[in-house]
Amino acid sequence: MPNFHTKTLKPLRYPCTYKETTFTYEAHSKRGNTLVMASTQGEQVLIRIQQKEDGVLLVKGDKVTRPTQASFLQKVLIDFRDASEAEEIFSNIEPKKFLHVKHSPYLKEIEFFANHFDVEREIWIEIGFGSGRHLLHQAKKNPHIQFIGLEIHKPSIEQVLKQCELQNIENILVIDYDARLFMEFLPSNVVGRIFVHFPVPWDKKPHRRVFSAAFIEEALRVLHVNATLELRTDSPLYFEFTFSQMMQLSKADVHVKKNAELEITSKYEDRWRKMEKDIYDVILTNEMEAAPIPKLGRLHFDDVVDFAKIRDAFKDELLRGEGFFVHFEELFEIDEKSGLIRLSFGANERNERCFIQIQEGQVTYLPETILATKSNVAAHTLIKEWFHGICD
Ligand SMILES: C[S@@+](CC[C@H](N)C(=O)[O-])C[C@H]1O[C@@H](n2cnc3c(N)ncnc32)[C@H](O)[C@@H]1O
Repeated sequence: MPNFHTKTLKPLRYPCTYKETTFTYEAHSKRGNTLVMASTQGEQVLIRIQQKEDGVLLVKGDKVTRPTQASFLQKVLIDFRDASEAEEIFSNIEPKKFLHVKHSPYLKEIEFFANHFDVEREIWIEIGFGSGRHLLHQAKKNPHIQFIGLEIHKPSIEQVLKQCELQNIENILVIDYDARLFMEFLPSNVVGRIFVHFPVPWDKKPHRRVFSAAFIEEALRVLHVNATLELRTDSPLYFEFTFSQMMQLSKADVHVKKNAELEITSKYEDRWRKMEKDIYDVILTNEMEAAPIPKLGRLHFDDVVDFAKIRDAFKDELLRGEGFFVHFEELFEIDEKSGLIRLSFGANERNERCFIQIQEGQVTYLPETILATKSNVAAHTLIKEWFHGICD
């Protein structure tokens, strides 16, 4: 990911604009880290400045607000470097040929699925599409189907969007989102197939796998009757784990195949075949129509809080509720009345990372689109109680 190292940064006077980037504020934590709020072309990104050994500063995009296109972040970091007259010791932000910052109409934010996505035709989903070979092949072969490709690896996303443009493929929507959280945004009974091909096996940390009892339950809800959830893996442990999870359903139609051939092989499949590994398919067919669910709203704060009181009481703290947690990680101060709290919260196995921004007493999440899942609502309630405990 784009970043640079420097020993010096000239302080900026906020707000200020340099070329196309506006820098709104700077915030500091007791640990010596700094955040700078930057925005360009309507997109916000937090720049994170970390103190390293020997007085070196590492400047990069913060994970929470990191935009999908690396080229976008590169541009913001270049503007920041130039505005603050930094002399780089190391840098990978100057691309050889500057990539044009372009938003593809097929790249969607979660906000789109939360509020604007209308299901007009059957949907097929591919989770972790990687190089996109299988997704692109299926989309070309099935033009009447709306494909949704989920991926968290940004270069893979850029690559597939480029292929869609080059090959005039118009039936794929791509989203940079964790598949374990995504299904909750879809209505019930609208999906025909969900492909999960060669997911990361996480043999030592099974709780990080895409498949879990909760994921299977949500997948069954979005699948229509006779639709399928399909795992293809080279990992015997992942295969057995998924099969046993499916067998815990009260009723299930599960098919298993070994070394079945597909019309198209993915990059990972080619690699495993060369190594003569066995390949397993587990296919779960949905037999039941699910009840409709209401659209997920956003979480928001109504009450005003006192930032100075919160800053004085703040400590790195982990709070736990039944099946969920809230971790207040780091507080950044902009001025006496404003600042940011970096935190993670949600269900134990699936959590959100975000900031809470406090400006003149008003509290908002950053990014704003924190979905109101059951565990997030529980965590949000605990966060509000925590604010009240300090401010009342
Ligand atoms: C081993 S690769 C397989 C890629 C591709 N399916 C293939 O067969 O070549 C797994 C992919 O899943 C993506 N991935 C991992 N966890 C994910 C998650 N929770 N949500 C969406 N994608 C994920 C990774 O970024 C990676 O590209």
